[in-house]
Amino acid sequence: MCLSDGERGVEPLNARKIIVGITGSIAAYKSAELVRKLRQQGYEVTVVMTPAATEFITPLTLETLSGRPVASEFFPTARRPQVLHISLAQWADLLVVAPATANIIGKVAAGIADELLATVIMATEAPVLFAPAMNAAMYSNPILTANISRLRQYGYQFVEPEVGELACGGIGKGRLAPIKTILAAIEELLNSSSELSSKKVLVTAGRTEEDLDPVRFLTNRSTGKMGYALASEAKRRGADVNLISGPSRLPSPLGVRLISVRSAEQMSREVKQWFPRSDVLLMAAAVADFRPRDKAASKIKKQEGLLLELEKTPDILLEIKPLKGDKIVGGFALETEDGLANARRKLKSKGLDFIVLNAPTALGADANQVTVLGADGKTERLSQMSKLEVARGILDRVVGLVRTKGPKEEKTS
Ligand code: C5P
Repeated sequence: MCLSDGERGVEPLNARKIIVGITGSIAAYKSAELVRKLRQQGYEVTVVMTPAATEFITPLTLETLSGRPVASEFFPTARRPQVLHISLAQWADLLVVAPATANIIGKVAAGIADELLATVIMATEAPVLFAPAMNAAMYSNPILTANISRLRQYGYQFVEPEVGELACGGIGKGRLAPIKTILAAIEELLNSSSELSSKKVLVTAGRTEEDLDPVRFLTNRSTGKMGYALASEAKRRGADVNLISGPSRLPSPLGVRLISVRSAEQMSREVKQWFPRSDVLLMAAAVADFRPRDKAASKIKKQEGLLLELEKTPDILLEIKPLKGDKIVGGFALETEDGLANARRKLKSKGLDFIVLNAPTALGADANQVTVLGADGKTERLSQMSKLEVARGILDRVVGLVRTKGPKEEKTS
């Protein structure tokens, strides 16, 4: 076999470092091609294999192609100067698991780290990309679906398998994505992961709860999905992210600082504290517009009828408007009538860079159909898509705004 410079281990200076994790799927033989292509493109590659993967492809093949020792033993017999899983976790700029079995996905989703690869995944702060490959019935198992969805919420990335002929016979969805698709996803992830690297992004999410008495409150159906997706996507693009959230069952994305609040008053206090230290505010929270004027000290007794007196909550976006300056601020609007006209009015009155008009069906749903109205007068209607995809579209806009505002900042400094 004839090896190129890259394949022989002659790395260019500052080469990006990638860990290729291989797990026990018949598709493991395809990872040899992935390693080879990554080396050809100038990346430094270290392969980490699960014990099951070594039954499908030999470490020698991958050692030869990567030009570096393959790591597979949790407790290597040869002494090493550093703790192996930590040094690997810190070495990588990106970790790709291809092929990823239901087992590794399930283990990471459950926080189990019982062999080297799972431990490195848990210990790394680098982006992690899973390329699943398995039997179609396994891939459609709802337990796996829930595990993938959980990992996505934490900020892990996935390249979906394709529909095709499977090793176990038959045709279905479960075949490892083509190597060129995995390479494109790696490239995209590495490029976008520094887009907001010096920026502080503040996101608000979820509903607020406004107390009526010690056991009752007024609230709405927001679950926080849109705001958590924005926080996750901003983190993926390298930002320092603070997430101020009303009550939500969602896990906080990895590496994001979560500030939990209940009421509009508490959210207002936290936003005012964090906003001056932020470059971007994405105000996705469904803040209550009204709250009971008085909170009863004891539980209100059952009675024939009850007249509640409500008062306005602080309008957070209006409160921070005087502090906006060059910061980028995006708001959200949910309207049941005259959506565009109302959103345009709010964009102006709140002094926003853009406002995202939600469909009324968005609350609590996984998907959303939004229209983004910019301060530049442009309106962009996105098709129905997952909230993570909507978050991507919104962060693309934020990155564009950061770039157009950037050179002005340099001139004044
Ligand atoms: O005026 P309206 O509540 O419809 O505007 C929605 C936008 O304003 C959202 O971005 C929401 O987070 C924000 N908002 C706020 N303070 C409130 C209510 C909503 O900042 N009290």
